Amino acid sequence: MSIHTNQELIAKVRNAFQQKYNSEPLLVFAPGRINLIGEHTDYNDGFVFPAAIDKGIVCAIQKTTATSCTMYALDIKSEHSFDKQNLAPITNGSWKNYVLGVIFEVVKKYNLDSNFNIVFAGNIPSGAGLSSSAALENSIVFGLNELFALEMSKEEMIYISQKAEHDFVNVKCGIMDQYASMFGQENSALLLDCRTLKSELFKVDFQDYEILLINTNVKHSLADSAYNDRRNVCEKIASLLKVTALRDVTKEALLSIKETLLEEDFLKGLYVIEENERAIKASDALKENNVQLFGELMFGSHNGLQHQYNVSCVELDFLVDFAKESKHNIGARMMGGGFGGCTINLVSKKEVSTFKEEIAAAYKKEFSKACSFYQVQLSKGTHCI
Ligand code: GLA
Repeated sequence: MSIHTNQELIAKVRNAFQQKYNSEPLLVFAPGRINLIGEHTDYNDGFVFPAAIDKGIVCAIQKTTATSCTMYALDIKSEHSFDKQNLAPITNGSWKNYVLGVIFEVVKKYNLDSNFNIVFAGNIPSGAGLSSSAALENSIVFGLNELFALEMSKEEMIYISQKAEHDFVNVKCGIMDQYASMFGQENSALLLDCRTLKSELFKVDFQDYEILLINTNVKHSLADSAYNDRRNVCEKIASLLKVTALRDVTKEALLSIKETLLEEDFLKGLYVIEENERAIKASDALKENNVQLFGELMFGSHNGLQHQYNVSCVELDFLVDFAKESKHNIGARMMGGGFGGCTINLVSKKEVSTFKEEIAAAYKKEFSKACSFYQVQLSKGTHCI
């Protein structure tokens, strides 16, 4: 995917829509997200600490008098026509299922009095763990809400996006990505309680350090099924302990059933309990301007994801190990679902270019391929343009 500025992206999508359908579309921008800490805690009713970024998806949408709806993925020049009243997941449907899943949910609840056309494109690299999928889902539900004046709340919209991913994409994701992409605020991260959906806004300032994302440029194919497996393990432990979610489980309670669990499942449960604690500690550290502690908690998070939750991969581990050894880096961990994608790093502002050069060379030497870097701004959530 070519990296466009948002202005270029908006112009590109608008022009493509005008040329294809000869009408003026409504335009929506939905951002991707990063997550500072709190990984795989969202579907355990726990805490996450994400932020929306200045890269995302632009969606153009408008009503049509045609007898069917169409959607067009401009980046890959792929078009699909459909009957909105008659939708089902498409086997190997890739991007189409994100869009169709959202439309299916909206049509189930609301009467859309006309057909419509959609064109979209993005400037978030897909597979990087920056939630291009949640951005796409949110852009569609937000666009439909505006176009048909459905008056949905933002909460309602993100649950529709999530349901689309569960039922059409078959990834039983939590709510973090959709939430961050919808509710993000400039220069801020949101400490989100995934049980109550209440969040606390934090101005993010890491003082002499800045956030740097490093993409391994790998995505291992088992990611989706492994994700659902992890969720099943967590739900099994919660049900054994007769509570709603791992959020309600203490280390003592988990230890009390250790003998009945596989060792690997015990470690997964332990990871979630500890990661929840780390997310809260990290938010306290940010309040106290203790960036060193924040960084240590990030390394702790990665350690748990690697050794207990078992969702990392050699490329991610390599980048985090390198960061740990570097004097320019005070915190790093894999970000998102795992098995590839990006690490998030806290790097000395003065030494960013040195650090980049060093880690890029080391990565190249180890894997004979390049990693990529992204410096992102924390930005506002899904909105009309
Ligand atoms: C993916 C999911 C999220 C969350 C993260 C891991 O991004 O979509 O809901 O579970 O993985 O923290």
